[in-house]
Amino acid sequence: MAYAIGFVGLGVMGAPMAQRLMNQGCRLTVHNRTREKGAALIKAGARWAETPAETARGAHSVHSMVSTPDALRSVTLGPDGILAGLAPGGIHVDHSTVSPDLTAQLAREYAAQGKHFLHAPVLGSVSQVVDGTLLLFVGGEDAAAQRVEPIVRMLGSRTWRFPRPEQATTTKLLCNSFIAGMIGVLAQALVLAKKSDVDPSTLLEIIGQSQLNAPTYQTKGRAIIERNFTPRFFVEHLAKDVGLVLDLAHAQHVPMPVAEAVHQLITQAVASGLAKEDYASIVKVLERAAGVEVR
Ligand SMILES: NC(=O)c1ccc[n+]([C@@H]2O[C@H](COP(=O)([O-])OP(=O)(O)OC[C@H]3O[C@@H](n4cnc5c(N)ncnc54)[C@H](OP(=O)(O)O)[C@@H]3O)[C@@H](O)[C@H]2O)c1
Repeated sequence: MAYAIGFVGLGVMGAPMAQRLMNQGCRLTVHNRTREKGAALIKAGARWAETPAETARGAHSVHSMVSTPDALRSVTLGPDGILAGLAPGGIHVDHSTVSPDLTAQLAREYAAQGKHFLHAPVLGSVSQVVDGTLLLFVGGEDAAAQRVEPIVRMLGSRTWRFPRPEQATTTKLLCNSFIAGMIGVLAQALVLAKKSDVDPSTLLEIIGQSQLNAPTYQTKGRAIIERNFTPRFFVEHLAKDVGLVLDLAHAQHVPMPVAEAVHQLITQAVASGLAKEDYASIVKVLERAAGVEVR
């Protein structure tokens, strides 16, 4: 069946996700704040919508992938927002990494208008979108989740279901607390290795052969050694995510000392102009302090 899908937010992740749905036979209507980012998809056959609301016209479901909680509010609420554009009973599935407070609030606002909001954040990056191995956490009511299951299945290889949207949001934030901790541990070890005259590649090779290994250490470790900081996941988004993790931890009175420490490091990276580089580039903050470059 050729599903008609609305898609809002065509950044690093949104554009390949929309393209993947097209490759799977869906008919896409797309919108992005900056129109040029939709050019390749339109060339490939997607229809352009002038507003987020317009992507909902005739759509089986509308999907969004935007940067921050404010961006999600901006594409969702108001006369041009997705909520206004959806017909009664319509479904909006957001995939962005945002706050649990916001996804809970949106679910209530949609329900009050007889519409449905699901939160389905994703774990994995561009390569996983392309090869169909994203992991998705789908939070929200069962009936709506069942209706969008075929679309969610096109986007990834495994799905975990949560009764409430904010549980899916929180699960994603917890996963990103691992990303933050891992890049902090990796970056500090590679810099100290270099400074102490131990070859960083040898250290990475040993970790790779051991119980300590994780694919992220190899991918990001090699990227650092090869000085390849092509953005897959911006430093500014990791800063936002660790900030959201800490907001949640503070609200729940749970200490997260590792997240606090890495947040400091990421904040320094943003302040020193690295916001739009891949998150592996936070190593540069430590390199500058140590006076070495990992190669
Ligand atoms: N990159 C990854 O590996 C990855 C993996 C999993 C989850 N995520 C999460 O997925 C989300 C998107 O990430 P990304 O890497 O695709 O980021 P990105 O390339 O920065 O894309 C952000 C998107 O949000 C839009 N946007 C930002 N502010 C807006 C506003 N005020 N109003 C309307 N649209 C706005 C941007 O529009 P413009 O084009 O006009 O700027 C763009 O389409 C983030 O929440 C991120 O944390 C990313």
